[in-house]
Amino acid sequence: MHVFGIDVGGSGIKGAIVDVVSGKLVTERRRLPTPPGAKPEDVAKVIKELLEMHNWSGSVGIGFPSVVISGVIHTAANIDSGWLGINGETFLHEVTGCPVYALNDADAAGLAEMNFGSGREYQKGVVLVLTLGTGIGSAIFTNGVLLPNTEFGHLIIRGKDAEKRASAAVRVKKKLSYKQYAKRLQEYLSEMEKLISPDVIIIGGGISKDSEKFFPYLSTRAKLITAHFLNHAGVIGAAYYAGQRSLAAQNVAGENSAIG
Ligand code: BGC
Repeated sequence: MHVFGIDVGGSGIKGAIVDVVSGKLVTERRRLPTPPGAKPEDVAKVIKELLEMHNWSGSVGIGFPSVVISGVIHTAANIDSGWLGINGETFLHEVTGCPVYALNDADAAGLAEMNFGSGREYQKGVVLVLTLGTGIGSAIFTNGVLLPNTEFGHLIIRGKDAEKRASAAVRVKKKLSYKQYAKRLQEYLSEMEKLISPDVIIIGGGISKDSEKFFPYLSTRAKLITAHFLNHAGVIGAAYYAGQRSLAAQNVAGENSAIG
């Protein structure tokens, strides 16, 4: 089964067709810049363009950097506040004509890692997936089951939002060495360990490809590992999620027609 996965990020909107059974990309991942301010109409235009580039009219999964409950966008830390209260699924269905399923971007990345990547072998216990990018995204799995919409990037550390101290974007902006950055990340990881005692922590986001540069400075009780999909996890996980939702919808429709 093929589904189009999209990851709406602070600097880029990425998309590809994904085989949601194997978790493999069927097409190369395309990236278009996020329009300045990331207003709903502008982001919708880019999403439409991505789908048209691929001649796509099937199911679409979209990860947003937001709390997403039943399709509705509830927070907007790194996108325009005009998204608040919008049902991303209905809105983008109207714009694209495709069935759209929306979820939090870190939850999407977590689903990709747990089903096809580094988390596959950790289906027992508590796994914390962190995406370090423009912000910090979190996804928590207990015995393989996602607790959706955790927002641990906004934990307050030294009086500041954790993601304003320890995201990958902050490292670049503040020109921190990996050693300096690791100090900030360590503080954050220690706080997270205090709060949720995970068995495994998976570090994702583009920065995880350089993990050998900062992992040696980190120490956690949990097993600390890097994400398998680096920057592709959001796209793969969003597509996987949409695949699951559309299968569930088909099953319900099938049951109803059997009853009717
Ligand atoms: C948002 C989260 C998101 C994370 C990573 C945070 O600012 O509040 O919803 O998962 O950034 O994009």
